[in-house]
Amino acid sequence: MGNRFSESILITGSTGMVGSSLVRELTQAGYKNLKLTNSRDADLRIQSDVKLLIERTKPTTAILVAAKVGGVLANSSMPGTFAVENLLIQTLILNELIKSRVEKIIFVGSSCVYPKNAPLPLEPKSLLTGPLEESNKWYATAKLSMMMALDGANKEFGIKTVTLMPTNLYGPGDSFDVHLGHLIPSLIHKCHAAKVTRSASFSVWGTGRAYREVLYVDDLARAIATVLENDDFVGTLNVGSGDERSIIEIAESIRDAVGFIGEIEFDSSKPDGVLRKPLNSKPLRELGWESQIDLKAGLRFTYNWYLDALKFGKVREN
Ligand SMILES: NC(=O)c1ccc[n+]([C@@H]2O[C@H](COP(=O)([O-])OP(=O)(O)OC[C@H]3O[C@@H](n4cnc5c(N)ncnc54)[C@H](OP(=O)(O)O)[C@@H]3O)[C@@H](O)[C@H]2O)c1
Repeated sequence: MGNRFSESILITGSTGMVGSSLVRELTQAGYKNLKLTNSRDADLRIQSDVKLLIERTKPTTAILVAAKVGGVLANSSMPGTFAVENLLIQTLILNELIKSRVEKIIFVGSSCVYPKNAPLPLEPKSLLTGPLEESNKWYATAKLSMMMALDGANKEFGIKTVTLMPTNLYGPGDSFDVHLGHLIPSLIHKCHAAKVTRSASFSVWGTGRAYREVLYVDDLARAIATVLENDDFVGTLNVGSGDERSIIEIAESIRDAVGFIGEIEFDSSKPDGVLRKPLNSKPLRELGWESQIDLKAGLRFTYNWYLDALKFGKVREN
């Protein structure tokens, strides 16, 4: 590779929560030739769009962030869409990147790919050793297929390939859909609504006793930058903060960040989901990465962003 900062780096999904954070991170780090794309300029489910994108951008490195993303309910109510769209979005571009002789590919997977009975903390050696969680197995299988395809592309074509498996993310630019979104943004939305309507409480699914490891999106962006700058690592890495909190603690921290003075009701008629699924992220830390934003600060940044987005009508609910 030539000068790292002037090489052509394609970032798909550059307008989403992770993509926007990554663009900020790499721009600040001095990268000058980022090629950004989202579904409006190239629909990655359509082969001709993908072909044109790669011909136009000629990347030496591709960071594949784009995906059809959603929470547990979205995944389980649209399993076909989540499987097929993700398979298309990943595979069509991988095919074109191989043809264009790209040098390096970083793919953003997800920690939901782990078998439900894998030993804790979760490590990549447990991948593909057992049945997946029922609720999102279609999406997870698509992510695993890409991980394997990248491994094959490395072995056959010598492309440097890295798959990252991040834990639950949150941050500016998230989707705040109460029903279809992820845990933290949905709870921020509900808690804020309870505050403005002066309700006595807001409700949280389950007993609150399950634990979640959560990561502020800028920490993932720095993890991607770490892997981008490392010329040796090939394979799969977890990306987790190591900061596991009970849902009770997460809901209380959200209440503090929002400034809501009412109660939190835990609806034990709803499922808790997996009790714990901490990641072993030591191999990534050995490459020089550490998470830097704790839950309190991350929630404050996210809630401030949410308030601004509300003001300008920019809160996503998809
Ligand atoms: N959010 C989490 O908690 C979480 C956790 C673990 C892993 N991840 C992974 O992180 C990555 C990014 O997630 P995110 O939360 O940033 O998602 P997001 O905010 O929904 O962003 C998705 C991005 O993908 C693009 N995209 C979607 N469909 C596309 C298509 N057909 N053609 C081209 N672009 C398309 C979107 O473009 P438009 O804006 O034009 O639609 C958007 O830029 C995904 O791979 C996801 O699996 C997320």
